[in-house]
Amino acid sequence: MKPRSIVVLTGAGISAESGVPTFRGPDGLWEGHRVEDVATPEAFFRNPDRVHAFYDARRARLAEVEPNAAHKALGMLDARWPGDLLIVTQNVDDLHERGGARRLLHMHGRLKSARCLACDARLDWEGPLAHRPPCPACGAAGRLRPDIVWFGEMPYDMDRIDRALARADLFVAIGTSGQVYPAAGFVEDARAAGAYCIELNLEPSDVSFRFHECRLGRASELVPALVDELVA
Ligand code: APR
Repeated sequence: MKPRSIVVLTGAGISAESGVPTFRGPDGLWEGHRVEDVATPEAFFRNPDRVHAFYDARRARLAEVEPNAAHKALGMLDARWPGDLLIVTQNVDDLHERGGARRLLHMHGRLKSARCLACDARLDWEGPLAHRPPCPACGAAGRLRPDIVWFGEMPYDMDRIDRALARADLFVAIGTSGQVYPAAGFVEDARAAGAYCIELNLEPSDVSFRFHECRLGRASELVPALVDELVA
């Protein structure tokens, strides 16, 4: 396999072994919440306190988790890969950055970012938002929200992602259930562009049948092995 241009898509499964829960557990709940209670604009409008508390807790927990071998392997790929590379993550944690990835996009936003509903600024953010701090950019009070792409909202950076998929000759999806679009459709776009498509996941996803190759197992084992093949 001698690709020149690689697109990697990651989902919650790559962070699972770091101790960050995936979204779709067997009980259909996400850390005890229904997704529609914490991950939609309507939920935020109805009950901002609950939504802030949920994301504040997840942001605080980032200090307790570490990148695993899969994040670090992608960081090494980024450092060593001479061709085009774009790592697109659906995850809102910061484990890819801490694992060394630089050519990285967070299509569903970041926990460590806040967005101002008054001036639309996106600001690096470490602390809580529940106490309604003023926007550092425009001073508006009580208008900051988590910079997370919720259901019904447009993911970030779709133009750049589409351009990268159109010229990819290898597409790799890691730890994602293939249930949420547009990310679940990237394999289709990459295939249409002529890319070889590999899925690395604990179990078959909803879109496994669209890939040329599916490798089942833990990301912490499968990702370093694939990166070794690529940089060998
Ligand atoms: N190694 C590899 N894959 C794993 C591991 C692991 N250690 N643990 C779990 N997985 C797989 C699961 O089998 C599952 O297919 O990771 C996948 C995680 O799927 P989801 O929880 O649905 O997460 P994801 O696909 O990232 O969700 C997409 O949905 O709720 C929204 O915006 C949110 O970005 C999120 C999007």
